[in-house]
Amino acid sequence: MKKKYLIGNWKMYKTVQEAVVFMQQLLPQLEAIRPLAICDTALALYIAPSFLHLPAIAALLGDQKSIQLLAQNCHHEAEGAFTGEVSAAMLASIGVSGVLIGHSERRNYQKEDHPLLAKKIKRVLEAGMQPFFCCGESLAARRSGNHKAMVQQQLQESLVDLTPKEIETLVIAYEPVWAIGTGQVATMEEITEMHTFIRGILSNHYGVGNVPILYGGSCNPQNAAAIFGCADVAGGLIGGASLEADQFVKMIMALLA
Ligand code: 13P
Repeated sequence: MKKKYLIGNWKMYKTVQEAVVFMQQLLPQLEAIRPLAICDTALALYIAPSFLHLPAIAALLGDQKSIQLLAQNCHHEAEGAFTGEVSAAMLASIGVSGVLIGHSERRNYQKEDHPLLAKKIKRVLEAGMQPFFCCGESLAARRSGNHKAMVQQQLQESLVDLTPKEIETLVIAYEPVWAIGTGQVATMEEITEMHTFIRGILSNHYGVGNVPILYGGSCNPQNAAAIFGCADVAGGLIGGASLEADQFVKMIMALLA
């Protein structure tokens, strides 16, 4: 059975208190769901909250592994005089499992480019965590038919220095920018086409065939089952619909269906 993934990316939402309440609502529901997953390793659940929430949620989780923590970002240097930044090693030291790298909001608002993202991936790997690499075309690229070229460039220029063994540790999230937070979900044909395309790049260029590829962009409890049913969709990277525990549980159920 192929492993399935669901990640809640909380972006810049929730106070620490609200984050704790969410987890207190979610954890008992995860206990109830657990028998539905054939085995623990078949389902990987993650929350990617703000840096500030990570220690509080880590303390609440203790030794439980029913859901793991991701960070939304980290700095591209191992350490140094970078006021206000957070290193990969700091995140690993509090039990964070992985880091989102290359989310379109960071590419757009923080102007993060391909070489910078390549460095961040290295830092995450050095710290013993898993990189969750986000890619996806802009609306302009989709309209002009350049969607594949844009995603290909994102993958090639940020993954270029990785060995096949390192590529195998990645999770890829395909998130078309025009589908993020817009309610305009990609069609099943578009999703399947891009996942097949990304799979082809990973196997042709790196000889790696088993990297999970997730979809993200206006995924919600109503459309999740159809999206997760598409060929080679290993799960979802969820924004808005991950902010309420009940909605998040519905998405897990769609993944397990
Ligand atoms: P929405 O699910 O709100 O469209 O956000 C997707 C996303 O950006 C997850 O990283």
